Amino acid sequence: MTTLNSLNQQFGIAGHLQFIEVDGGLTFAEISNAHATASIALQGAHIATFQPKGEEPIIWLSKLAKFIPGKSIRGGVPVCWPWFGPHATDSKLPGHGYARTVMWEVQETKALADGSTFIRFGLIENETTKAQWPHASTVQLEATVGKALKVELITKNTGSAAFQLGEALHTYFHISDVGNMTIRGLEGCEYIDKVGETARRTQQGGIVIESEVDRVYVNTTADCIIEDKGLKRAIRIAKTGSKSAVVWNPWTEKADKMGDFGPQGHRGMVCVESGNAFDNVITVQAGETHRLVAVYSSEKL
Ligand code: BG6
Repeated sequence: MTTLNSLNQQFGIAGHLQFIEVDGGLTFAEISNAHATASIALQGAHIATFQPKGEEPIIWLSKLAKFIPGKSIRGGVPVCWPWFGPHATDSKLPGHGYARTVMWEVQETKALADGSTFIRFGLIENETTKAQWPHASTVQLEATVGKALKVELITKNTGSAAFQLGEALHTYFHISDVGNMTIRGLEGCEYIDKVGETARRTQQGGIVIESEVDRVYVNTTADCIIEDKGLKRAIRIAKTGSKSAVVWNPWTEKADKMGDFGPQGHRGMVCVESGNAFDNVITVQAGETHRLVAVYSSEKL
């Protein structure tokens, strides 16, 4: 077990990055540089916060988020891997895969010339993960914290047979109020509507949320833009290696049932996820590396 001291000695960077332990027992990489602050849990390589200096946070973290070993954190950037949603054949396996609830190790940290901070994590396999995913592979998460936040999820097939991969960066964005925002970029896209009876529909115009929304947009590589009239800003989600975008807000009843959203918590967030799901599940050939990359930045409206 790596101790906090040895983590700080090996990977801490003065003026950029230190490791801390929080109540509940999780260890976080705390990043603070000239551009922004961010905190990332080693469990799940879960980015919990990201806030450019002098701005509102870009990433939403529930006020009631719990930092408990083995439980996914409500908010931030949960990593859904190696499947998205329920497992294809075994409903007993965890929804969205296991990557977000197991330990990752820190592999590298760097202060970059432009003042940004870079960190790379690798998922630590164990007997349980191997039983759930019997494919020879590695997965790494790289985060570059600058004025924008760049996240890369890198999957290598280290075996001799191809495998099918589902994945998403399940990012929760901070908004002034769900009634003030419109998501652009998915106009005309086909989506799978998961609210009520599953149906395929086509997006007409921008996305406005006035009730529960749970949609997987397929075959889209477009940037998504969250326009927020309340904060007078837009959050831009640019991506590569991703053909699906998931838009999710649980609305009042479901959020209340989850117990970790807080009263009216759903009004201050929207998930716009970059990934590969449903029609876009990826085949990773033997020896191949697949990279899913998302960059989150803000612009004045
Ligand atoms: C979304 C799914 O990606 O994640 C939803 O489309 C799901 O169906 C949501 O409810 C949250 O999942 P979880 O497991 O983090 O509560």
